[in-house]
Amino acid sequence: MCGIIGYIGEKNCVPILINGLKRLEYRGYDSAGIGIIANGNSEIVKNKGKVSLLEHKMKDLQLYANLGIGHTRWATHGIPNEINAHPHSNLSNTLFLIHNGIIENYRVIKKELENQGYHFKSDTDSEVLVHLIDRFLTLGFDLCKSVQLALNEVVGTYGIAVIYKDEPDKIIAARKGSPLVVGLGNNENFIASDVSAILAHTKQVVYLDDGELAVISKDNFIVKNISDIEIEKEVHEISTTLEEIDKGGYSHFMLKEIMEQPESVRNSMRGRLLPEDGTAKLGGISEVVDRLVNSKRIIITACGTSWHAALVGEYMIENFAQIPTEIEYASEFRYRNPIINKDDTVLVISQSGETADTLAAMREAKSRGALVLGICNVVGSTIARESMAGVYIHAGPEIGVASTKAFTAQLVVLSLITLLIARRKNLSMAEGKKIVEALNSLPDKITDILKLNDRIEQLAEKFKDANNFLYLGRGYQFPVALEGALKLKEISYIHAEGYPAAEMKHGPIALIDENMPVVFIAPKDSAYDKVVSNIEEVRARGGRLIAIASENDNDIDRLVDDTIKIPDTVEMLRPILTSIPLQLLAYHIAVKKELNVDQPRNLAKSVTVE
Ligand code: F6R
Repeated sequence: MCGIIGYIGEKNCVPILINGLKRLEYRGYDSAGIGIIANGNSEIVKNKGKVSLLEHKMKDLQLYANLGIGHTRWATHGIPNEINAHPHSNLSNTLFLIHNGIIENYRVIKKELENQGYHFKSDTDSEVLVHLIDRFLTLGFDLCKSVQLALNEVVGTYGIAVIYKDEPDKIIAARKGSPLVVGLGNNENFIASDVSAILAHTKQVVYLDDGELAVISKDNFIVKNISDIEIEKEVHEISTTLEEIDKGGYSHFMLKEIMEQPESVRNSMRGRLLPEDGTAKLGGISEVVDRLVNSKRIIITACGTSWHAALVGEYMIENFAQIPTEIEYASEFRYRNPIINKDDTVLVISQSGETADTLAAMREAKSRGALVLGICNVVGSTIARESMAGVYIHAGPEIGVASTKAFTAQLVVLSLITLLIARRKNLSMAEGKKIVEALNSLPDKITDILKLNDRIEQLAEKFKDANNFLYLGRGYQFPVALEGALKLKEISYIHAEGYPAAEMKHGPIALIDENMPVVFIAPKDSAYDKVVSNIEEVRARGGRLIAIASENDNDIDRLVDDTIKIPDTVEMLRPILTSIPLQLLAYHIAVKKELNVDQPRNLAKSVTVE
């Protein structure tokens, strides 16, 4: 979703802003812009489309400035075009603003401002903010006060950065609901919506919290709250490296991230297994572990791929830890007056830790007294910071919009939580040891699955022109079917649906003909025989059958057209293995269709609006 970067210092900010915007491209955007102030001049350059286009424009203009802000926009109000792109400016072109989020009462404010003579250029909600700030400036307030007064009038969410020609020694940034981080350098400071934008320049960062405003100059920064009281902020050292956010020789981030899974899965359990005791230890939740183990109910809330991980978690926890578990779409949970008790635990899963619906669901659960634990990837993200305790999945930066390595790492962490609770309840040490052993052997098995890449690419060639796909699985493999279908549709734009295999005959079977590829996720598990019956049903109707099967399964070949055979593991961990061929299948189909795999149309990596 929209990205923000700002620079104040002694260098030319133009290349810094352009490179920062390139680092933010993965979030998804449709237009980009830069605003700079130098030697009494102020200039905005923006365009619809790519940052590279903006870069060409900036090169032609040969601009130089020590102060500037840049933005990538993901349209919410108003179509993607140059006028709606940020920065927005006041009428005299002296005040520039970039905004992430949504101003919900913008219509009312716009009307008032229009009555006072303000002219609006764009269709955006964001533009009201710049004119509102301008109104306070003309009343004689300084920039900081004007921003505070303007923000007092708006309802909605924002992460903003503002610069003003008459006060060229500062950037004002403020946050409510959209992440912002201040980067600290030597005689230079930064503001960004995401650390990846400034990682090339600094690793010292300060995370802003909701309701905070920062005044950033080249050698200082001050953070204040809504009541103008200064707040002491902790400086964090980020451990992410530039290599981790580069493509590392792969043609796409998505492929790199799929291929990284032996390592990311290993990292997600590193130091967390106790092989002698057949259990796990999770430092981040050690202080609340008794409350977790004694929960009467567990609710897991998330969106998208993280929601699919939650579904697998439900199977794990109910099977092994024997605590009733419910899975909730965060977007539904927050609006339906859910029954939450003090002895419930709410697990909140989010790769980015910034998803607006998930964050709101978490706050709702917290306000109702449940134990709220976060399972996040991005260190220092809002959900990670606001949850009562939590577990990082340590998958490393995930840049490709389609989530891959975060999903498998989420599953590892859910299995660790399950193991920990189950061992405290009634899982025997011997059973626990089997799971620990199986976890330890996952990275090698994933390496073996990744060797099937060429074979899966051939399959992609065969099926790339299909218009629809069905993905079917039972038990633990039902969420994998959903995830396989989601991966395909989001990057290849092929319509795909996931179903529990047995549900097929209650409707979707009507779709099956010789044009419909049906992917069965059919490892040798407790549901295998039943899945084989479902395969027969599709075969009888002429569907094109593909199976993800166990490597020791010699019977399945005669039933299906194509098989991908993968190593086996214990039932609870199988989704970690079966999901990987589906990631590769989606990837290769999208590449063969010449689509933008890392930035699929209309999608954003971090969905910070409702
Ligand atoms: C799918 C995908 C999305 C996200 C969803 C939640 O590949 O990436 O469905 O899973 O937007 O995002 P997080 O996990 O960041 O809360």
